[in-house]
Amino acid sequence: MSDARRIDDLGGWRRSHRNNDLRASDIGTEVCLMGWVQYRRDHGGLIFIDLRDREGLTQVVFDPDVDRESLDRAHALRSEFVLAIKGVVRARPEGMTNANLGTGDVEVAVREFKLLNTAKTPPFEIENRSEAGETIRLTNRYLDLRRPKLANNFIVRNRAAQAVRRYLDEEGFLEVETPILTKSTPEGARDFLVPSRLSDGEFYALPQSPQLFKQLLMVSGLDRYYQLCKCFRDEDLRADRQPEFTQIDMEMSFADEAQVMDVAERMIVRLFKEAGGIDLPTPFPRMPHAEAVGKYGLDKPDLRFGLPLTEVSDVFQGSGFKVFAKAELVKAMLVSGGGELTRKEIDDLTEYVKIYGAQGLAWIKFKEAEGGGLEWQSPIVKFFSEDEKAALAERLDPKAGDILFFQAGAATMVNEALGHLRVKMGERMGLIDHSQYSPVWITDFPMLEWNSDEKRWTAVHHPFTALQEGQEDVLRNDPGKALSRAYDMVLNGFEIGGGSVRVHNADTQSRMLEHLGIGEEEARAKFGFLLDALEYGAPPHAGIAFGFDRLIMILCGGESIRDVIAFPKTQKGTCLMTGSPSAVGAKQLRELHIKLREKAKQ
Ligand code: AMO
Ligand code: AMP
Repeated sequence: MSDARRIDDLGGWRRSHRNNDLRASDIGTEVCLMGWVQYRRDHGGLIFIDLRDREGLTQVVFDPDVDRESLDRAHALRSEFVLAIKGVVRARPEGMTNANLGTGDVEVAVREFKLLNTAKTPPFEIENRSEAGETIRLTNRYLDLRRPKLANNFIVRNRAAQAVRRYLDEEGFLEVETPILTKSTPEGARDFLVPSRLSDGEFYALPQSPQLFKQLLMVSGLDRYYQLCKCFRDEDLRADRQPEFTQIDMEMSFADEAQVMDVAERMIVRLFKEAGGIDLPTPFPRMPHAEAVGKYGLDKPDLRFGLPLTEVSDVFQGSGFKVFAKAELVKAMLVSGGGELTRKEIDDLTEYVKIYGAQGLAWIKFKEAEGGGLEWQSPIVKFFSEDEKAALAERLDPKAGDILFFQAGAATMVNEALGHLRVKMGERMGLIDHSQYSPVWITDFPMLEWNSDEKRWTAVHHPFTALQEGQEDVLRNDPGKALSRAYDMVLNGFEIGGGSVRVHNADTQSRMLEHLGIGEEEARAKFGFLLDALEYGAPPHAGIAFGFDRLIMILCGGESIRDVIAFPKTQKGTCLMTGSPSAVGAKQLRELHIKLREKAKQ
């Protein structure tokens, strides 16, 4: 190593400013800055460096008129070297200012500097507009996190967490920690299990949420609880799902849905204001679950745009087009201006809806007919009677240049497929104003849903949710129709939070478990501690939990919660940086009383 690359230690130097601090008002001040070399530019006799830290960039200039020796040594500097510089703030020359940079009016002329460390050439450029693929970025996540855009997400995340803690403290909530090594808490996903060394053949489950513990804290009389907690769910991952994620989890005693929704809504308004400077429109509107699914196909409607769905099952009763005639539900969505879609684009959309179980995607394009009126272009319209066409025209009022999409089949599939198609078309047609925030409370959820894989009823929210008044009979006679006291908060098409009023009576809770096909023995084994606790004066209580990562993703305008989690997992649940999950040695397995099957061993 040449002498120019001699590594110095801090030698007592202290930073005077961060790299996004200096402004024109600081001109003439002596400063000490530290950070990483973003770029080095040689300009004849001068060398410029952008010095970066998590806050931003400051231009640093090595000028022979200020210190010749520093300039000579600066030739050896490379991207990502770590520096400490001392110098004087001065105005940038005319025409050299940078309005895009907080520090763009000034630069620091170096009098003296220390090289604190060198760096290998990084495998990708540390830039906001990084072209590098996600694999290489996740493998070197510590470098990826140096990108100011990503680093800023964690500044926002911290601000949000502090805002939430301040608010909940003011509202009388206690932050209480609950166990990570615990027993299964059903939230509808698979559990992650941890083998016990001390109890041969037994396992802890990582919590899918602190649900049962927070209810027990209400029985304890802690009255108002919250926690920013990790939850673990072994489910298929998507852009807004991680196997471990953070909730703002809360529970209130002597409270009903109106109180929980009020406290929670004010918390979210505070969070967006204090962490993002965003004013959410209040009060949040409310929409019953049936209306959300009816109009938008999904229970998490994006209300930033229209494109409602319209049921047309009745139009096709007894129709010659059998696919529609025999379907449980037929729905249509009229996309104004969608007639411009090409055959290829329609084929792609057809593939897209197949993700949600659709067999195909029927469509009609409307054109100006030669002699006036509308021409219907479609592979299926030849199967429609004149009456059916007239009924469609009346209900949907299509215009030239529009496209009408149809989905027919099982109700759940039709709603899911068209609901997601609606979101895709909203994007495609430029209907979404990305500066807008549209929160909505979804209420009146059904208590149960039919799980066709397991051939049994499961809880839509969770089994500890109370029924609405007078719904016990409905639950007995028509289980799918009974309404619960659950509520979700939805923002721009994301489910950001969900909760419910809980069952606080042991008998009622046992009956609910029976409805879910959980017999007495299984109920005792799984939730005996909760059933027991409910017998000792459990107060009425209700609560909610928010997906903290999703909230921060929306606040930061990101597209994936991976961008707001420091060390996230891939779609396959792996960590590319540490290489987890990974094999363990025979000794460790023996201690845990675990024997691998032949296939797993290889
Ligand atoms: P729920 O299961 O609806 O309710 O979860 C609450 C919120 O957590 C977020 N969330 C997730 N975020 C990222 N990755 C995931 N895999 C993931 N799963 C859920 C969502 C969701 O709205 N105990 C109940 C709450 C209660 O009843 O009080 C619960 O966990 O934003
Ligand atoms: P087919 O009669 O199968 O050739 O389908 C005619 C058109 O209807 C094609 O455009 C299919 O994509 C579409 N289609 C088929 N099944 C359905 C369905 N269940 N719902 C909506 N459209 C469908």
